[in-house]
Amino acid sequence: MNLLITGCCGHIGSYIAQNVYKIKKIKKTILVDNIKSNRFCSLFNLNKKNKLKFLLRDVSITNSLNDIKKIDYVIHCASMTNAEKSFSKKSEMYKNNLNCLRNVIKFCKKNNSKLIHLSSTSVYGKQTKIVDENCEKKYLKPQSPYADIKLIEERMLKKMSKELSYITYRFGTISGVSSGIRFHTAVNKFCFNAAINENINVYKTALHQYRPYLSLRDAFKVFKFSIENDFFKNDIFNALSGNYTVDQILKKIKKYKKNIKIKLVSSRIMNQLSYHVSDKKINNAGLYLNSKIDLDIKETIKLLKNI
Ligand SMILES: NC(=O)c1ccc[n+]([C@@H]2O[C@H](COP(=O)([O-])OP(=O)(O)OC[C@H]3O[C@@H](n4cnc5c(N)ncnc54)[C@H](O)[C@@H]3O)[C@@H](O)[C@H]2O)c1
Repeated sequence: MNLLITGCCGHIGSYIAQNVYKIKKIKKTILVDNIKSNRFCSLFNLNKKNKLKFLLRDVSITNSLNDIKKIDYVIHCASMTNAEKSFSKKSEMYKNNLNCLRNVIKFCKKNNSKLIHLSSTSVYGKQTKIVDENCEKKYLKPQSPYADIKLIEERMLKKMSKELSYITYRFGTISGVSSGIRFHTAVNKFCFNAAINENINVYKTALHQYRPYLSLRDAFKVFKFSIENDFFKNDIFNALSGNYTVDQILKKIKKYKKNIKIKLVSSRIMNQLSYHVSDKKINNAGLYLNSKIDLDIKETIKLLKNI
């Protein structure tokens, strides 16, 4: 069976490209990215046994995938992803991300390919103890254009339910090391600043608020599970390794880097409130995600140990 990974040079896509040989069903993988993020390094020294082919493509352009054939599964990672910067790049992000998904849907329909779509737990946002996939609409409160777009994408797919096999995963914030690692999300950014002895900027209101996090190891488990079990339910599933407060994350960082400097700052997206995200639905499907994000933190700090 053949796999297409869009956005293969990114944090998640590059991890899949490095590890895809572990998904037994997959014999060949096509990688696509526009490399606007300049992460050429994600393509360096990839393992021959992964049987990879890279195509430089802008997925937001109509027909950009037209010459790719015989694809059984698509993992769609191509997206602009910086939530905080999404306020100033709103229209560009809407255009890029929605056009990418439109073209991927068209591709999947034409080729009869099954689609793994990545949404985000940032679609949740109202103060409550725990939120799940079937929560009332009032608990879906995206706090950034990035998260707004994720909800629109989920709805686009739901409308296509009769014409397409897909699954949407709402991923928690990713932690862990890949060749396309980014440092603009919580855990990784904190690790980077700790490693270079800079201030760790924490949103004033966020210190004791719970948020969901997902280890890259668990993210990969999700992809492997879906493909190996043909798990495409045309439905939405949360995926997280655990819910933690920023304070708890900082304590984990302190285990590997004793002296860290914390500075409380303001942000446009800091008014998000505290919530736990439920993983019951994915557990009920037979998938348990319990990788330790402590190990991701250790490995991320270790990357920078000699500077
Ligand atoms: N990293 C996280 O914490 C996280 C959490 C929840 C959901 N997600 C979702 O997972 C997916 C992948 O995230 P990531 O962390 O790997 O992001 P990333 O920013 O590291 O990678 C995205 C990749 O997509 C590529 N890309 C963007 N627009 C493209 C286009 N038009 N054509 C071709 N390539 C294009 C970029 O060049 C980049 O390499 C995204 O949909 C993201 O929203 C990520």
